[in-house]
Amino acid sequence: MDVFEAMKGRQSVRKFRKDPVPREAFLKMVEAASQAPSAGNAQNVRFLVVEDKELLSRMKGIVDEIVSRTAGKEIPKDKVNNFNLFWSAPAAVCAIGLPYESNTDRILREKDHERYKVRRFQVNAGLQSVSAAVMQLILAAYALGFGTCWMTGPLIAKPELESALSIRYPEELLAVIAVGKPEPLPPKPPRKRPEEITAFR
Ligand SMILES: Cc1cc2nc3c(=O)[nH]c(=O)nc-3n(C[C@H](O)[C@H](O)[C@H](O)COP(=O)(O)O)c2cc1C
Repeated sequence: MDVFEAMKGRQSVRKFRKDPVPREAFLKMVEAASQAPSAGNAQNVRFLVVEDKELLSRMKGIVDEIVSRTAGKEIPKDKVNNFNLFWSAPAAVCAIGLPYESNTDRILREKDHERYKVRRFQVNAGLQSVSAAVMQLILAAYALGFGTCWMTGPLIAKPELESALSIRYPEELLAVIAVGKPEPLPPKPPRKRPEEITAFR
């Protein structure tokens, strides 16, 4: 599939068919993700594909509990929302990142702590690298005929999910991607025109 066709055709999928996603398809998606650029070519990402229904339900329970606690009202069992919809997909791909520190970061950590903090926490090249990999995984999924929803909503329960998935410091859970064959979709949300978001000088 042409890359422009994939970028234009992809949209977030929030309703999935039950058909399982073959493991070879996941490996192809991850291969595409591994081709993404990463700062210092650190390749500081790995993926955990959760297919096990029981584990998906446990993850949903954890997310629902924290959402209920913060929103002050209980989420009824089986209710799907934008925090927990990964549960209704055949699988949820968890993007796990390692922090990235370049030589420049290391020097700044010792010599200029203010600049170091900006680079580490605002620029965050490690996080940008993980995002690039996630985007390639999602486009590959689309080209293979699968729908995805890139989700950070579930990370309202980040420490609890990390513990349930045995993700240990310094690794971090950074995104959950619901993957499966899509049910019929609503129209793709509109986009800004290129002229609106581009400047030349
Ligand atoms: C970093 C990131 C986090 C997102 N988190 C969620 C989420 O938690 N739940 C959800 O339903 N959609 C989530 N989305 C999907 C966005 O809502 C969606 O991409 C946006 O509305 C544009 O729609 P489209 O993907 O269909 O083009 C997320 C997207 C990104 C890039």
